[in-house]
Amino acid sequence: MELKACVLFLLLLLSTKPVKTCDFPAVFNFGDSNSDTGGLAAAFGQVPPPNGETFFHRSAGRYSDGRLLIDFMVQSLGLPYLSAFLDALGSNFTHGANFATGGSTIRPPNRTRHQSGLSPISLNVQSYQFNDFHVRTRQVQGIFKELVPKPEAFTRGLYTFDIGQNDLTGGLFLNLTVDQVKASVPDILGQFKTVVKDVYDKGGRFFWIHNTGPIGCLPYVLEYLQINEGQMDKNGCANPINELAQFFNRKLKDLVNQLREELPEALITYVDIYKARYSLISQAHKHGFEYPLRACCGYGGKYNYNIHVGCGGKVNDNGKEIIVGSCKDPSVMIIWDGIHYTEAANKWVFSHIVNGSYSDPSIPLLLACQRKRD
Ligand SMILES: *[C@@H]1O[C@H](CO)[C@@H](O)[C@H](O)[C@H]1NC(C)=O
Ligand SMILES: *[C@@H]1O[C@H](CO)[C@@H](O)[C@H](O)[C@H]1NC(C)=O
Ligand SMILES: *[C@@H]1O[C@H](CO)[C@@H](O)[C@H](O)[C@H]1NC(C)=O
Ligand SMILES: *[C@@H]1O[C@H](CO)[C@@H](O)[C@H](O)[C@H]1NC(C)=O
Repeated sequence: MELKACVLFLLLLLSTKPVKTCDFPAVFNFGDSNSDTGGLAAAFGQVPPPNGETFFHRSAGRYSDGRLLIDFMVQSLGLPYLSAFLDALGSNFTHGANFATGGSTIRPPNRTRHQSGLSPISLNVQSYQFNDFHVRTRQVQGIFKELVPKPEAFTRGLYTFDIGQNDLTGGLFLNLTVDQVKASVPDILGQFKTVVKDVYDKGGRFFWIHNTGPIGCLPYVLEYLQINEGQMDKNGCANPINELAQFFNRKLKDLVNQLREELPEALITYVDIYKARYSLISQAHKHGFEYPLRACCGYGGKYNYNIHVGCGGKVNDNGKEIIVGSCKDPSVMIIWDGIHYTEAANKWVFSHIVNGSYSDPSIPLLLACQRKRD
């Protein structure tokens, strides 16, 4: 696959017709904390420091010490970082909007955020918000032209999706078995499909869809589910949970193929984030990283992660109150807070997905508006 991508890239370079990059005027993102740039913070409380310390030097609404994949992506497209749709102050939506919030699922959760930790802003709600944004942008165009996208940005823009992880973990944390969660995947993806089709009906044509990562390697899953030794792979990740993620990803890929038939004018890039993240975790040392399964910002236990107190929280340590802070060198760590990734890990994954080598079809991000040339 890498070779194929390489050949394609060379063909594009050598092709007699000049290759025009897409010049996406905007990016509209849907997702969970993997791509939240301030949505949950605007609605449910600030993300505490030391989140943001490495790059923004302040808490910046992101669950990481720095930039997320979506930040590296828009940056490489020459666009500013995306404002969260929910952020009432300082937002500028000229080049897109971000509807993602930390803890979002595809299916609406049945329990409150307090009970489950899941965001009430599930994908269907993000879709309502997008539709409102789309309609109202036209209404306010004259007054706010320096703050909202031009109408053509909705048809020429890139629609990015990174969601599904919390549907899987949400089921597991309700004590459903892996097989029970697998059985819910068709319903989950059915609801995902509805939203993609709705964006298409509103004029969206270019889609960039991330699959779900190796959640069986994340401290919050490993700590909560208490996986027994026999079910770990050679890297210390939980096999049954990673198999669940891969099951979801296979079904997601099937769905993408279905959508390509049902939406003839859509160009959909499916990105294997699982494979990229897993290669980083399984070859951490080779790539200059340490302790691939340990949280940088956390407290206690085998993974430096405690389910009851997160990064930036307060903990009583022998009668002394301490703040759960960052590790010495986040730039050599992969996992940031037990759930999310460090800026360094995100940068590594970005640099490997941007040229299309983990994508189907294998075209670079800058060309994601073009059909693969045969
Ligand atoms: C894509 O980029 C990565 C990281 O720089 C590199 O290892 C890989 O060989 C590249 N693949 C292609 C097809 O250019
Ligand atoms: C919520 O409950 C309804 C009705 O029982 C069910 O159909 C749906 O699948 C549930 N959603 C989730 C996320 O479990
Ligand atoms: C919003 O961003 C665009 C592009 O970066 C810029 O041209 C515009 O002036 C900004 N609007 C305001 C009100 O600052
Ligand atoms: C899941 O099982 C654990 C251990 O038996 C229990 O403590 C927890 O309350 C259960 N969670 C739910 C949501 O039922």
